[in-house]
Amino acid sequence: MINIENLIRDNIRKLNPYSSARDEYTGSIGVFLDANENSFGSIPDGKFNRYPDPHQREIKEKLSKIKKTNPENIFIGNGSDEAIDLLFRAFCEPSKDTVLIMPPTYGMYKVAADINNVEVIEIALTDEFQIETENVLNNVTPNTKLMFICSPNNPSGNLLNRNSITKILRSFNGVVVIDEAYIDFTNDESWINELSNYNNLVVLQTFSKAWGFANIRVGMAYGDMQIISVMNKIKYPYNVNGVSQQIISQALDNEVEKNRIVEKIISERNKLIDDLLKLSIVEKVFPSDSNFVLAKVRNANRIYDYLLDKKIIVRNRSKMINCEECLRFTVGTESENQRLIEILSKYGE
Ligand SMILES: Cc1ncc(COP(=O)(O)O)c(C=O)c1O
Repeated sequence: MINIENLIRDNIRKLNPYSSARDEYTGSIGVFLDANENSFGSIPDGKFNRYPDPHQREIKEKLSKIKKTNPENIFIGNGSDEAIDLLFRAFCEPSKDTVLIMPPTYGMYKVAADINNVEVIEIALTDEFQIETENVLNNVTPNTKLMFICSPNNPSGNLLNRNSITKILRSFNGVVVIDEAYIDFTNDESWINELSNYNNLVVLQTFSKAWGFANIRVGMAYGDMQIISVMNKIKYPYNVNGVSQQIISQALDNEVEKNRIVEKIISERNKLIDDLLKLSIVEKVFPSDSNFVLAKVRNANRIYDYLLDKKIIVRNRSKMINCEECLRFTVGTESENQRLIEILSKYGE
């Protein structure tokens, strides 16, 4: 067991958090004259004048059943990007503490570190996009408070080796964040199931991918109560708006539909991989456990510009370490993927 209290920044440990009107009275029936809202309603149809539940109780209740955990172990944020930022603010003293990340990986870890003035230790994944476990552990210092592991990893698309992650969880004395934004597209078990074994583990998930709600910004962090309560203590009081809460709550009653769409995306992904491999300009397609595929092509910059010219927008990842000449393709609908392959097959004609 790690002493989480000791990892929290001094000023955050001592912080007296903002107490919102909706913290003090939690009932739903009454005459609400406590929050300086507009009692006459919103324009034009009157429904949005009240502040939303600051604790997102309904969503947490439903999620806790699906994920077999307790509401106290769930943080809900304005996208998982909010959780990433809050973890820095909770645990990393600017200009003193450090974070370890494993490029090529999701860009927001470094951006959030830079915003918070936290030094980044980068230990690259191998050329097969797996963790250099010993190298990672040898580069940790007493000031390394956070480590981000993205699995399935963006932009490579693959799951990271479980034994490597277990070794890190057993050896690292800071907070290990496993970002599972793409976990629904794999058959692998979520690390949420390991939360009771490691009190320094935080698992990030999101409604932006498998659930299809990128627009309304809702993400989650699962972890030990001590970590989750510090995140709740420092978040903006009404960080998830009421419209998003309502839509997500409704969606959670229909997990079957989410699973059906995930199956479709996986089948489209496998078809896309096969089709890409048939193209002479494609040199390699990396294995994917995600809703995107990374492919090494003959000239990434030129092909990227060519696609852009045809109004097909993909992600050029060729500047990232171990991703030379690589493009990342999000799995589209059947017709979108067909269009991509058709245009790619005409490249150079
Ligand atoms: C690995 C990873 N984590 C998190 C996010 C962001 O998720 P959210 O939309 O919940 O902020 C992304 C978005 O692309 C991602 O690729």
